[in-house]
Amino acid sequence: MECEPFYQFWSALQRCSQERMWDATIDAVERDLDRLNANRRSRKLLGSLSLDASLEIPDYHRVVDIHLQPGGYHTEFMNTDLAAGAIYDLGLDVYSNGAMGCRNEFLGELLIEHFLKSFPKKNPKIILDMGCAIGNSTLPWARRFPTARVEAIDVAAPQLRYGHQRAESLGVSVQFSQQNAERTNFPSASFDLVVSHIMLHETSARALPKIFTECRRLLKPGGVMLHLEIARGNSVFENFMTNWESWNNNETFGHHLTHIDYVALAARAGFAIESARCERHVGERDPQQQLYSAESPWQFISAVA
Ligand SMILES: C[S@@+](CC[C@H](N)C(=O)[O-])C[C@H]1O[C@@H](n2cnc3c(N)ncnc32)[C@H](O)[C@@H]1O
Repeated sequence: MECEPFYQFWSALQRCSQERMWDATIDAVERDLDRLNANRRSRKLLGSLSLDASLEIPDYHRVVDIHLQPGGYHTEFMNTDLAAGAIYDLGLDVYSNGAMGCRNEFLGELLIEHFLKSFPKKNPKIILDMGCAIGNSTLPWARRFPTARVEAIDVAAPQLRYGHQRAESLGVSVQFSQQNAERTNFPSASFDLVVSHIMLHETSARALPKIFTECRRLLKPGGVMLHLEIARGNSVFENFMTNWESWNNNETFGHHLTHIDYVALAARAGFAIESARCERHVGERDPQQQLYSAESPWQFISAVA
């Protein structure tokens, strides 16, 4: 494929469009930064924000700028910086050609739909969203389960600052904290449901088993672990096209998931193997998305504690 002129042309355009995307979104955020910073509300907060300046940013985020976003998710230039979050918000919309919906909430809504179908009797009272970034996928959970306490963690402070401000301005209560999903400070057996949306493929081979083990530790008996991920494709062609992001867009770990056995991983983390599942989303193909397959690009990984 890499010798094919047409592929080379397409690949170069993809890469350029990704770089232009950040140029455009960074300019837009820069122009609006004073207003965003001034927009901190004085009324009573619905949720909370807890940052930990001593938290070590994992190597898999420090070594490369994931998606080519300059500075990645976590870089900040002042101690109130939320720019990386605002840039991610705009970038996600451009990257998906608007397919994530006007508030980028599509993935949260999709995972909720899967949860309700797969676990119709569960009514979680305390939910954790790992790798929440700006909380775009977290807020749908808080709206769907309005009496639940919703915790959302990420390693990146600017994402969390923006996410907190965003949730408050949308009138949704979420408790944001800066924590590493490999090992959090929540007590054992404290959650009914632990979810993540497109976080796993941006971690590492060492981190992934630790994250599953942490999910197991955090769940109450009968609690559910549920991750939404990008399926890596069912053919060599689909694998190759999906892994373009790894070779050209700094999603360096993604391609290692091509042959990962999530069910075995869940069993090794202490979940009963018969409760563990990895399922491909079956549903409408979004015509706005660039797909290399007739199937949906999303998969759901679940297990019950
Ligand atoms: C692709 S973004 C997904 C954001 C959001 N969940 C969504 O649906 O758009 C992945 C996020 O996971 C976070 N992340 C990656 N590894 C993490 C870890 N070990 N602990 C906590 N957050 C992590 C990154 O900082 C980033 O904000």
